[in-house]
Amino acid sequence: MTTGIDIRHYTADQAPTLRPLLLDMYAEVYEDAAQSDPFASIDRYAAGLDGWSSRPGWSCVVGYDGDESVGYAYGAPLPEGARWWGGLLTDVPAEVVAETGTRTYALSELMVRRPWRKTGASHQLHTALLSARPEQRATLLVDQTHPKVHHLYENWGWQTLGDLRPRIENAPLFHAMLLPLHDAQWQRAVSPSSMDPGSD
Ligand SMILES: CC(C)(COP(=O)(O)OP(=O)(O)OC[C@H]1O[C@@H](n2cnc3c(N)ncnc32)[C@H](O)[C@@H]1OP(=O)(O)O)[C@@H](O)C(=O)NCCC(=O)NCCS
Repeated sequence: MTTGIDIRHYTADQAPTLRPLLLDMYAEVYEDAAQSDPFASIDRYAAGLDGWSSRPGWSCVVGYDGDESVGYAYGAPLPEGARWWGGLLTDVPAEVVAETGTRTYALSELMVRRPWRKTGASHQLHTALLSARPEQRATLLVDQTHPKVHHLYENWGWQTLGDLRPRIENAPLFHAMLLPLHDAQWQRAVSPSSMDPGSD
């Protein structure tokens, strides 16, 4: 397995063409989770993808290893008064979650097919998506029952803001995380050894 993957960038006008590929990869990566967790169902995901890809500023990167798709990441800027922060359970100053439409990019999805796990492909996708963004900062939500994934993001420079449960049926409890994008430090922070997600 190579560690260098080709990354292609896509925008909302390409979403209809890309949709079947994104759904196929989701179905493969989340096959086990979808069987037991209604929040992970393919239908719910497809509706979420359609919602996200119709937002202004949606962007997506897909990784390829030769002819094979490896994984992808996508997101979009938060609009003014974003519902994203509506489920925040931790008290923070209002300024912290004040959105302008151009302040914060929400990283909605990042997934990598099993053969390309632990190769650096996930960080390549993450960095390719975020380094192309003009916003000041990025945010993501990570399921609190997945501490290793939380730790992975911490190693990539993300900071935990607090607890958040989206006001959506069956939504799990998440850590809400933030990453300042204008601090070039985050793009250099990760060495191969620091990508080990640890054992928590
Ligand atoms: C998250 C992801 C992109 C990271 O890829 P990676 O950098 O190659 O890292 P790994 O796949 O080794 O994941 C790191 C650790 O987190 C664990 N992990 C990854 N996804 C997980 C999930 N959805 N649930 C629980 N644990 C998970 C892995 O088992 C691994 O633990 P290990 O070191 O004991 O083997 C990839 O694991 C993935 O696609 N996971 C499924 C989708 C997902 O959870 N995306 C993140 C949403 S916030």
